[in-house]
Amino acid sequence: MKVEVITLFPEFVEQVTRFGMPRIAVEQGQLALSTRNPRDYSTNKWRRVDARPYGGGPGMVMEAEPLAAAIDAARASLGAAKVVYLSPQGSRFDQRWAERLSAEPGLILLCGRYEGLDERVLEAEVDFELSLGDFVLSGGELAAMVVVDAIARLLPGVLGDEQSAVNDSFSAGLLDHPHYTRPEVWRDAVVPDVLLSGDHAKIARWRRQQALGQTWLKRPELLDGLELDEDSRALLRDFIAQQR
Ligand SMILES: C[S@@+](CC[C@H](N)C(=O)[O-])C[C@H]1O[C@@H](n2cnc3c(N)ncnc32)[C@H](O)[C@@H]1O
Repeated sequence: MKVEVITLFPEFVEQVTRFGMPRIAVEQGQLALSTRNPRDYSTNKWRRVDARPYGGGPGMVMEAEPLAAAIDAARASLGAAKVVYLSPQGSRFDQRWAERLSAEPGLILLCGRYEGLDERVLEAEVDFELSLGDFVLSGGELAAMVVVDAIARLLPGVLGDEQSAVNDSFSAGLLDHPHYTRPEVWRDAVVPDVLLSGDHAKIARWRRQQALGQTWLKRPELLDGLELDEDSRALLRDFIAQQR
């Protein structure tokens, strides 16, 4: 998959492929990340890409033309690619979005700065407007890096164990089950017996119940959107009874 990030801070965004799963994705040839600076498409000698807003008010707005030229160049380089604007006004980026975007052959991630982009760029060029959440960042770069990270780990073969993405929170609509590792006793707290039993069917059932239970405890609204089978409902009832 090819991703190009349009940003005023290319060196910042490029850091995302130096670590963790994005780095592995690049090393495996599953991800190619490049950056493009709108300043390279500015037509003034100061390389300015922002101007004061029409109608007055505080701050600066990113001008349409350098951004559109950068997007055109990115399209010419990537071929088929959706354009995503990272913005606090967008749809909430979540695991469904990560899955959807990871299936695209190419993506152009557009990072705003200042008060944001001239609205006409959004109307003319942007396929999806995505937000990290209801807060305002000073620029779209961290959001683009989050999107790259979330996508990279879904690309084929990037996670060592394919099953770990399947069990991850949100993949099947539930939160992940709890995890434990050595030592068996830590500050008097013990690992649940079932995990030491070697009985894989029992362990799988316990993990399913814990995933249901953790979701009920921490994010109960996620359960509203799920059609649980009778066995899962019984596991959840049992988990809830154990909390009382
Ligand atoms: C200071 S913000 C502009 C905020 C804009 N004036 C507003 O209130 O909607 C500058 C840039 O940061 C990015 N940004 C800010 N918050 C974000 C969020 N929650 N998710 C994704 N990108 C965000 C966007 O690219 C935005 O253009």
